[in-house]
Amino acid sequence: MSELSADPYRTPAVPVLGNHTRLVAVASSLGAGVLAEPASFDLEVSVRRIRRVTHDVVTIVLDPLGKGPRGGFAFAPGQYVTVTADVDGEQVERCYTISSPPTRPHLLTLTVKREAGGRLSPWLHDRLAPGDRLRVRGPLGGFSVVEHPAASYLLMSAGSGITPTLSTLRAIADLAEPLDVVVVHHARTPLDLIERAEIEALAASQSGVRVVWVCEAAAPDAVWDGHLGRVSPALLHAEVPDLTGREIFLCGPPGYLDAARDALDTLGVDPSQRHEERFILDTPEPGASAGLAEPVGLAGRAGDEAGATIRFARSDREVDCPPGTTVLAAAAAAGLRLPSGCTQGLCGTCKSTLLDGDVDMRHAGGIRPREVAAGRFLPCCSTPLGDIVVDA
Ligand SMILES: Cc1cc2nc3c(=O)[nH]c(=O)nc-3n(C[C@H](O)[C@H](O)[C@H](O)COP(=O)(O)OP(=O)(O)OC[C@H]3O[C@@H](n4cnc5c(N)ncnc54)[C@H](O)[C@@H]3O)c2cc1C
Ligand code: FES
Repeated sequence: MSELSADPYRTPAVPVLGNHTRLVAVASSLGAGVLAEPASFDLEVSVRRIRRVTHDVVTIVLDPLGKGPRGGFAFAPGQYVTVTADVDGEQVERCYTISSPPTRPHLLTLTVKREAGGRLSPWLHDRLAPGDRLRVRGPLGGFSVVEHPAASYLLMSAGSGITPTLSTLRAIADLAEPLDVVVVHHARTPLDLIERAEIEALAASQSGVRVVWVCEAAAPDAVWDGHLGRVSPALLHAEVPDLTGREIFLCGPPGYLDAARDALDTLGVDPSQRHEERFILDTPEPGASAGLAEPVGLAGRAGDEAGATIRFARSDREVDCPPGTTVLAAAAAAGLRLPSGCTQGLCGTCKSTLLDGDVDMRHAGGIRPREVAAGRFLPCCSTPLGDIVVDA
């Protein structure tokens, strides 16, 4: 056997892009033009297996029904899908990052943390069973190392924000990519570390990968001699002294992202090196407008110069909506929380029913014409055309 055939990865199949040629090659050969195609698969999947990962995290393995997408699921590591489930007769949509790597395209895995009091995640934990069906649409998002080729990375996350890192590390390992990657992950306690054993094994076998775990507190039932505390400039400087030379990815809940951003600013990281994915409720500023794709009005009335009143029927709240403000932004400004993900009319998470009135909706593929015909709309990219009543 020649040396070349003994190492199938020796000759790059595509021109060198940064230092991770094969990762880019896999993502692009599978058709994941990140951001270019908002919905390259939209299909029913069946649940093949559900695996408990920690006390409040499960991994759901999904199998395409029928033939599935030609060539398998196409995505880049770090991208997400929207999952639609029938929860007690209501179609609920939420975003989940694909935790499996694009190098294993025949199945998708999602790693889901239970959000107490949430609509979908407790249902996925308690009610979903092997053989059940869900709908997945994607891939979505541009939070991917493939989009930002570099020789070295710092992947920072907290809680379930580790899922883009899982997909990325698994792909790097599958492809034996010679990348320099430091992972810094924050968890509440050692019992909350997601896929710790797998990541440590991967770091041990992949010379360029190093992992730093940081727990907020110890746990009575777990031995812990690692870092304790929260994200801080001192910790980052000590563990990743060359971080200003790295492309940095941050993922997790808003409080963590704010603290991590501050720490990186303190250490002199250029904001253009930093890429962020926010997992929970991105509250848009009042006045923000999506400004995307084709306008889909539920009726033909024009103009909202005077502003409007929005009544949220189920919450029994009435809020003012200034001109040019989306329904989601007006709700947030009034302290009313509606589910949301992308805030750009893309993911469908905010989908609600309009009980009365008209809106000007400028979505980007997050809703189907038959849903619009049935009175559904996306509050994140809709401005009222006069007073409206929303079923929320
Ligand atoms: C791009 C993206 C990728 C993501 N990837 C992942 C992932 O890989 N893994 C993962 O676990 N999660 C991920 N998420 C988060 C996920 O989409 C959901 O937000 C999460 O699972 C909670 O959904 P839920 O339906 O259970 O909770 P929701 O019903 O959305 O509620 C969320 C929280 O808000 C509270 N809440 C709900 N309604 C109200 C109200 N009216 N007033 C006050 N509080 C309220 C609930 O009690 C709950 O604590 C991702 C999010 C985004 C945007
Ligand atoms: S939040 Fe994604 S479509 Fe509205």
